[in-house]
Amino acid sequence: MSPPLLRRTLSGTVLVATLIVIAAARIPSSAPTPPAKEAPPPTLTLADWPLESGAKLGKRIFQENCVGCHGDTGLGDGEAAADLNPRPRNLRKGYFKFRSTASSKLPTRADLLHVITCGLPGSSMPSFRLLPDAHRDALVSYVLTLAAFEKARLEAEILRDADGLTMPVIVKDHLPEIRKKVEAEMAEGAVPVTIGQRPPTTPESVEKGRARYAKECASCHGKTGVGDGPSSYALRDWEDAEIRPRDFTTGVFRAGSAPTDLFLRLKSGLNGTPMPAISGSDDDLWALVDFILTLRTQAPEASDHAGCPIGGTTR
Ligand code: HEC
Ligand code: HEC
Repeated sequence: MSPPLLRRTLSGTVLVATLIVIAAARIPSSAPTPPAKEAPPPTLTLADWPLESGAKLGKRIFQENCVGCHGDTGLGDGEAAADLNPRPRNLRKGYFKFRSTASSKLPTRADLLHVITCGLPGSSMPSFRLLPDAHRDALVSYVLTLAAFEKARLEAEILRDADGLTMPVIVKDHLPEIRKKVEAEMAEGAVPVTIGQRPPTTPESVEKGRARYAKECASCHGKTGVGDGPSSYALRDWEDAEIRPRDFTTGVFRAGSAPTDLFLRLKSGLNGTPMPAISGSDDDLWALVDFILTLRTQAPEASDHAGCPIGGTTR
């Protein structure tokens, strides 16, 4: 089951449970009062996680530039977060949308560097191109550290709950091996998919893309591509926040609008959102890219800054 569906089912359950609790509260009875809620058991904290030198520098740069939105520990709960849509990413959960890696996998360092350097047009995620290369590289290390830490925290909780070990013992005796395992798994997944040569755009390729679009994309993205398909109003992301399909008429894409960027978005999907990875041969995907590019009706904006032009090549 996809995370958004699971969320919806869970919130349905919570609602029913809440109604039952409210109903129960109205019946005057001598039922015993439930025990006070216990404090959550101790878990791994970021302070338990030794930072290598890149991530250490990255942490400092993150405190200076990112916490207002992404929160002190990367949970996406910074002071500005509540007012933003889309919300700043919870960087701990390991859901990254704009990747060159297979569906559900983690991004490569180059993917993260691209997001940090160019920002995500159409969202409040700014471009940090003015930071020195070394600082942006260190930020990539720290973002990956936050994702690795969260995976390790869950592993540590399994040891705590299943084997009855205390956190100090887990930190002292098991953390290095958990860390090795988590980092190896992450590195294994962060492998770019192959992108072959783009075939030439022809009337036939556009037509092929149009036919598939009508069948598989228009329900969300709308017949003319403005993002108003019949399913578009009920979409939720993995945090149960409302999410809208992209409007293709503007030509503004979050992570680059070069054909290669769009190809990657289709091939990899956007983790944690209703936008699925699209199946089919590379030629099928290129045909969809050819068609989507015909939907633009607004004049291309002037390039926003060197290296990250809107409508230009970003890779
Ligand atoms: C003004 C608010 C704001 C600030 C400041 C900000 N971000 Fe973001 N960031 C966002 C939002 C909003 C998103 C989600 C955009 C979306 O879902 O399309 C995001 C998404 C991301 C992502 C996820 C990319 C993906 O592929 O899913 C990363 C990584 C990221 N930010 C890193 C950073 C780093 C590092 C900094 C500091 C150097 C930073 N952000 C500063 C708002 C912000
Ligand atoms: C279930 C609804 C749904 C379907 C079906 C769907 N999409 Fe999407 N798509 C979305 C949503 C929602 C987003 C925006 C996600 C976000 O903002 O994080 C999106 C985003 C995109 C993006 C933008 C990436 C960027 O960088 O801004 C492209 C390209 C795209 N979709 C193409 C397609 C194509 C082509 C199809 C059909 C083969 C398709 N989508 C089918 C919901 C859908």
